[in-house]
Amino acid sequence: MSVDCTQLGGEQFAPHCCPAMILNPLFVAVVVVFASAVTSCPVLCTCRNNQVVDCSGLRLFSVPPDLPLDTRNLSLAHNRITAIPPGYLTCYSELRVLDLRNNSLFELPIGLFWTSKHLSHLDLSYNNFSHVVADMFKEAHRLVHIDLSHNPWLRKVHPQAFRGLVQLQNLDLSYGGLSFLSLEALEGLTGLVTLQIGGNPWVCSCTMEPLLKWLRNRIQRCMSDTQLAECRAPPEVEGAPLVSLTEESFKACHLTLTLDDYLFIAFVGFVVSIASVATNFLLGITANCCHRWSKASEDEEI
Ligand SMILES: *[C@@H]1O[C@H](CO)[C@@H](O)[C@H](O)[C@H]1NC(C)=O
Ligand SMILES: *[C@@H]1O[C@H](CO)[C@@H](O)[C@H](O)[C@H]1NC(C)=O
Ligand SMILES: *[C@@H]1O[C@H](CO)[C@@H](O)[C@H](O)[C@H]1NC(C)=O
Repeated sequence: MSVDCTQLGGEQFAPHCCPAMILNPLFVAVVVVFASAVTSCPVLCTCRNNQVVDCSGLRLFSVPPDLPLDTRNLSLAHNRITAIPPGYLTCYSELRVLDLRNNSLFELPIGLFWTSKHLSHLDLSYNNFSHVVADMFKEAHRLVHIDLSHNPWLRKVHPQAFRGLVQLQNLDLSYGGLSFLSLEALEGLTGLVTLQIGGNPWVCSCTMEPLLKWLRNRIQRCMSDTQLAECRAPPEVEGAPLVSLTEESFKACHLTLTLDDYLFIAFVGFVVSIASVATNFLLGITANCCHRWSKASEDEEI
């Protein structure tokens, strides 16, 4: 029998899921098994001081069920993991570094980081994410570094994906499938120092203007690879580095109509309709006259 405290975890237990379990008499019987899980290193993995747990390159298809409770650095890199069970990290509130690089992940369970108050480094590169959903890193307020690079299917980053990550310094979104990124997604990242967005098929249309303007203004403070980031479309700017686009490039986006323009259009419309009514009227009269005249001349001929 194995005990998975994550099944008992979730929000209601966090952040004390594990002590809560020990105190509950119902679980006394399983505490012994649990206690061994507290100290033992997962099979095949290597551990140091029960704080650094290395399970990389083991061809794992799923995550090891139990980790030392003190785990600070956890590497699950270079495996074939397709999913993280909900609540998997609930008991490991000491976690600082989580390396999930080079797996087959396409999503993270909701609330995975509920108790990850110390998590500072998260590597999700070389996976199969297609979306960065809203609040994906919720509660991991201490995140400093997020690597989402080399997720070739990554098409969408939700405007609230990184909400609340005020300590985030490095964000890597390079080599994905992004054609658009809303400014809102980055605006709140006041601590951002480096941003990588190269190697994406950016569509430099009007909707991207706010982001590009922001990047231009921040380029001094915020090191970015925008030199490497190029527009894939529209054709006029294909291959152009994002930073090379100026306000001039977006001039066409600002051809908006003023009230005067609308009044003028309304006036022209009014005049045209009056003119057409008058023309019809004249045509009608003319036709009528011609008709009468021809009738009269016919009568004369008889
Ligand atoms: C934990 O991971 C970080 C970042 O990858 C690394 O710099 C640090 O040396 C690691 N700590 C140990 C004890 O291995
Ligand atoms: C990913 O992991 C596999 C082993 O599972 C390894 O052969 C490959 O080189 C790794 N790729 C990267 C980009 O690290
Ligand atoms: C990655 O996701 C795409 C769809 O989003 C799927 O077609 C593809 O098979 C996935 N690849 C892997 C290695 O899981």
